Amino acid sequence: MKRHITAALLLAAIPFTALLAQSQEQLLLSGWHFHLGAASGAEATAFDDSGWQSVTIPHDWAIYGPFDKDIDKQVVRIEQNGEAEATEKTGRSGSLPWIGEGWYRTEFTVPEGYDHAELVFDGAMAEPHVWVDGKDAGFWAYGYNTFCLDITKQLTEGDGQLTAGTHTLAVHLQNVEESSRWYPGAGLYRPVRLLLGQEIGLKTWGTFARTTMLTGIADDHKSATEARLTVTSEVRAPQMKGHKLRLGHILTTQGGTPVAEHWMDVNDSRMATNVLVVTRPELWSPEQPTLYTLVTRVTEGDMVWDEQSQQVGIRTIDYTAEGFKLNGELRKFRGVCLHHDMGPVGAAFNKAAFRRQVALLKEIGCDAIRTSHNMPAPWQMDICDEMGMMVMAESCDMWVYPKCKNGYSRFFEQVDETSVNKTGEPWWKRDFTNLVLVHRNHPSIVMWSIGNEIPDQNSATGYKYTRLLEDLVHELDGTRPCTQGMDRGEGPMYSGVWQATDIPGFNYRLHVYPKGIENSPRGIVLGSETASTISSRGVYRFPVEEVHGTAYDDGQITGYDVESCIWSNLPDDDWMWQDKCPQVIGEFVWTGFDYLGEPTPYDEYWPSRSSYFGIYDLAGLPKDRAYLYRVHWAPEKETLHLLPHWNWKGREGEVTPVFCYTSYPEAELFVNGKSQGRLSHVDVSMEDYLENRVEEPMPWGGTSMFADGNAPRGKNRLDRYRLRWMDVVYEPGELKVIAYDKEGKVAATEVIRTAGRPDHVELVLDAAKQQPSLAVTPVDANGNTMDTPDLLFVTARVVDKEGNLCPDADTQLTFKVNGVKGAKDVARFNSCCNGDATSTEVFTNPTMKAFKGECVIVVEAGTHVGDALLTVSGKGVKAGKMNITVR
Ligand code: GAL
Repeated sequence: MKRHITAALLLAAIPFTALLAQSQEQLLLSGWHFHLGAASGAEATAFDDSGWQSVTIPHDWAIYGPFDKDIDKQVVRIEQNGEAEATEKTGRSGSLPWIGEGWYRTEFTVPEGYDHAELVFDGAMAEPHVWVDGKDAGFWAYGYNTFCLDITKQLTEGDGQLTAGTHTLAVHLQNVEESSRWYPGAGLYRPVRLLLGQEIGLKTWGTFARTTMLTGIADDHKSATEARLTVTSEVRAPQMKGHKLRLGHILTTQGGTPVAEHWMDVNDSRMATNVLVVTRPELWSPEQPTLYTLVTRVTEGDMVWDEQSQQVGIRTIDYTAEGFKLNGELRKFRGVCLHHDMGPVGAAFNKAAFRRQVALLKEIGCDAIRTSHNMPAPWQMDICDEMGMMVMAESCDMWVYPKCKNGYSRFFEQVDETSVNKTGEPWWKRDFTNLVLVHRNHPSIVMWSIGNEIPDQNSATGYKYTRLLEDLVHELDGTRPCTQGMDRGEGPMYSGVWQATDIPGFNYRLHVYPKGIENSPRGIVLGSETASTISSRGVYRFPVEEVHGTAYDDGQITGYDVESCIWSNLPDDDWMWQDKCPQVIGEFVWTGFDYLGEPTPYDEYWPSRSSYFGIYDLAGLPKDRAYLYRVHWAPEKETLHLLPHWNWKGREGEVTPVFCYTSYPEAELFVNGKSQGRLSHVDVSMEDYLENRVEEPMPWGGTSMFADGNAPRGKNRLDRYRLRWMDVVYEPGELKVIAYDKEGKVAATEVIRTAGRPDHVELVLDAAKQQPSLAVTPVDANGNTMDTPDLLFVTARVVDKEGNLCPDADTQLTFKVNGVKGAKDVARFNSCCNGDATSTEVFTNPTMKAFKGECVIVVEAGTHVGDALLTVSGKGVKAGKMNITVR
C-alpha cells in the first residue's frame, strides 16, 4: 500500500484543492546504526551510537557467520519425526549466530503540517521493542508478523500537530535459543515504514477490495464481460460530528487509463463501500497476472484528507466438490512450500532474490507457494501478484503445545499486559488479525493457513482454536477458505479438527487420503505438504534403491530421487493421487528450495546445516528432481534430462543405472553408441499401485504403507514419469539419449560425456535473468537507499577443455567484482553458495569451493551506473570473466 498523491491528483474526476500536507509513506531503509548485544540506555535520544556499525535494512545480522556447531545445539526429541529419545541436534536452526540481542537506531524527519504518525514494521526478528525519541512506542512478540504502531503521541507536544524536525527511532530485538525448527535469521530483516497523515485519514489496512462477481467469463478464462469489484474502506477520525466525509474508489489500468470510479458518503460507522463495475476486465491468474491500480480517497468538500494507492487484481476463486477453480477454471495446485531465507542472501528480504526464486519455480511449471510456516513479507506478496504465483499464506507452526521449548507457543495465548500498545487481546488474535488485514488485497492469495502440523490437532484444544481462528479469519475476509497442514493421520478426524477445517490439508500420509476425503466437509482434500524427498545435487550412490530416512558417512543423499523420510514419500507417489483422484486439489511440495536449518536426516551429523528437501539446492541450482517436476507440471515444455553424470572412474564394468526425465513418451539410450534399449512411460492403475505397497511400523505407533520400489514395470509408479535403465554397465565415454515424439519420430537428443581434467571456469546465468545486467540501486536526494539492491546470480562451472562439467571438481574459487575504467560503487560481491549442505565456508566471503563442479556467485548493484567485471579464478583453472552492466 502506498500513500502517494501526485499520480492520483491527475486522475481526479473533480478538481480538489490540496489544502493539507499530503499524506506520505517514508521507507526507512538507510542510515541505521546497529549494535549486536546489550546496550544500556540505547533507547534514549541522546545515546551515542556513533561507534555502531552503519547498516541498511533489510539486514540479517547472522548471515555473516561463522557457522558453529554449538549455536542452538539442542538436546531434544523431535516428536513429529517419531523420535523416542532426546539426542543432540546440531544445525537444526542453521548454526549461524542468530541468537542474542541486538539494537538498531536511526533518525527520521517529520515535515511541517502533520498531525498523525504510524510506524509499520513488515517484520522484525524477534520480539521487537520500539522507542521514539526515547519514549516507549510499543512491542510485538512474533518476529514474522507485520505490525503497526501509532506514534502520534510520542511525536506530539502541545498543539496537536506533530513536532516537525528530526526524531530518533530505537529498536531492541531479542532471539532466544530453541525457538525455531529452522533458520529464522535475526534483525530488521524487512523494511520499516513511517506513515504521516492528518487528523482524519484512511485507516492503515482498512481497505478491502474483492471481486464479488464475474459474468461472461471467456473460454480461455482470461477475461470476462463484466466484473464487480467491491471495495470497503475504513476512515480514521476522532469524531464524525461536524464532518461530511466522502469516500471514493478509483480504478485505473496500470498504464493509468480510468476503468471505474464510485463515491459514497461516510456515516457514523466510519466506513463506506463502493461497488466498481468493470467492463471487459482482464483477469488475474498465474499465466496472466494483470493488475489494476486502486486509488482510495477520503475528502470533505473540495479538501482531500487522505489518499492511498495499491495494486489489486480481478479474479474469482471457488472451492467446490469438483475441486479448486480460478476464474471458473478447474486446476490443481502445482505448489511448493518455501521457508523465508533465500540461501546465501539470508533472511533479509531482497526483491531480486525472491523474484529469482519465483522465476525458477515458474520455469518448472510451479504455480503456487505456501509461505511455510509463517506470515509472508508484504514485498513478497507484491511480487507474487506481479509475477503470477498463487499463495497459501501461512501463519504459524504451533498454537498452545510447543514444538520447540521457546517457540511461538510462549505467546499464543498470552495477553500482553505491559506494553504501551497492549490491547487486552491474546497474541493469536492480534497476529491473525494482522495477517489477514495486511494481505487480503493480494489477488495471489487463494487461501489462509491457520497452522502447520499443530500438535493440538488431535485434541479438544485443537478443535477450539480451529473454530476460533477460522471464525476470525472469515470475519476479516469472507472470500477465502482456511486450511491447515495435518500430519497425524486419522487423529484430527476423531478430534473434529479435520472436519472443522474448510479445506483439510494432509502433510504426507497418502495412505489416509481416502479416509480424509470421506470426512472432508467439502469432499476435497489438499496435499498441503508433499514429498519431503531428499537429495544432494550431483551426488549419486549405488546400488540405486528406495530407502527412507537413511543417513550416510558423507552427509549427502543420492540424486537418483529415491530417498525420502520415514514420514514421507517420492513425488511419484503424490502424483498417483494428484493425477488420478479428482478430490485431491493439488500439492505443495516440501520444498521448492533447500533452506538453512533442518538437515534431516543429518540432524545429529555435523557439519550438516541446511536441508536436503529442495527441488532446487540452497544456491538455487536445479537438482535432477527439478526436471522431474517440470515433466509433471509443465508437460507442454520440452524436457529431456539424463542422470547421473558420466565420470565414474573405478566403476568400469559395474552396473550404473541411468534415468531420463522427459516430456517425450519414449526414448532410447546409448552408451558409446551401443543401444541400451528403448523405453516408454507406462501408466499404473490405482488398483495396481495400492496393491503393490508394503506395510511398515511407524516409530510413533501404528503402521504406514510404502510403495514397493521393486514392483515390476507396469505396476511400478516410478515408470510413469521416469525412464529407468537399471542394468547399464559403466564405461567412460558418451551417454546419449534420443527421444521420440507421439508419432515415433526423433524429437530431441541429449548427451553427457565423461569429462577430462578441470580446465577453465565458465560463467552462466540461470532462467531468472537472460542478460548480465543490473538495475542501479535508487537513492533519494540525500543519498538514502530507496529499494533493495538488484542482484545477479552467476553460476560458475568448472569445465574441461571441451566445456564438459567436471562433476567432481571441488576447486577453491575466488571472486572479484571491479568497476570497469575506475567506475566506483557500480556493483559489488554480495555472497556465494555452492549448495553443499555440509559446507562451513561463510557465504559472505568472496571465496568458496565448487561443489560437484558448481558454485553460485551473487553480485549486487551499487548506486552508480556503469560497467563492472566479475572474475572467478581458481588454482589450476583458467579464470572465468563476465561483464555486467549496471543501468
Ligand atoms: C513436516 C514439517 C516441515 C518439515 C518437514 C520435513 O512435518 O511440516 O516443517 O519439518 O516435515 O519433512
